[in-house]
Amino acid sequence: MTRPERITIEEHAEFVASVANWLAVSISAAVAERGSCALALSGGSTPRPIYTRLAERHAGVPWGRVDIFFGDERCVPPDDVRSNYHMANETLLSRVPVLPERVYRMEGELPDEDAAAHDYERLLPERLDVLLLGIGADGHTASLFPGAPELDERVRSVLPSRSPEAPRDRLTITPPVIARARRVAVIVAGAEKALAAARAIGGDYDPRMVPVQLALGGSWFFDSEAAAALGTAAR
Ligand code: 6PG
Repeated sequence: MTRPERITIEEHAEFVASVANWLAVSISAAVAERGSCALALSGGSTPRPIYTRLAERHAGVPWGRVDIFFGDERCVPPDDVRSNYHMANETLLSRVPVLPERVYRMEGELPDEDAAAHDYERLLPERLDVLLLGIGADGHTASLFPGAPELDERVRSVLPSRSPEAPRDRLTITPPVIARARRVAVIVAGAEKALAAARAIGGDYDPRMVPVQLALGGSWFFDSEAAAALGTAAR
């Protein structure tokens, strides 16, 4: 089983600063190495303060060379507060000089979700340069939920999926996209994530039941509450 490349455990304020710094450094390194950066953002609530800090404290990021993608999206309109695009736009994209034509939304609002997934597949690069992922209390990541058929996908890059919690209809990247990403970070904050994270890192390797294990090769960032159940071996 792959172990995380690096595990960082900090009080929440430092956790936010460390992830924002990791994003800034990773984006800048990708642009320096390849002239551009294909960055895929996570949704949910954990990234909010991270994106805000990235916008406010990392003016040196070459945003004009960045292509913005999303790891997943809820099937709601982009102006719906539950939209991952809406959250990222409010906290980051509207506040940095990223080029609008280089921001690629998953169009979850379209009635034909499989068509929307195919459309997005055509926009995704062969490999993402930087991928930010969250974790659910059930061990999901992006919108890949435990036991979901999407976890067996080896060809498609984007699929419709179903969440056990509303909004139920989603679009998500698939395991091959996570595996091909050049730099991956998983952000784990809050006591409610502690058991899922400990199982992901210290438990048997079974990504069909613990989908976030697909990202074990990346860098994992914990706040102290979320790290409470980690064994000493994982520190
Ligand atoms: C989403 C996210 C999802 C998220 C986790 C954690 O669409 O909700 O992409 O994978 O990262 O559910 O969410 P929180 O950060 O809100 O705990």
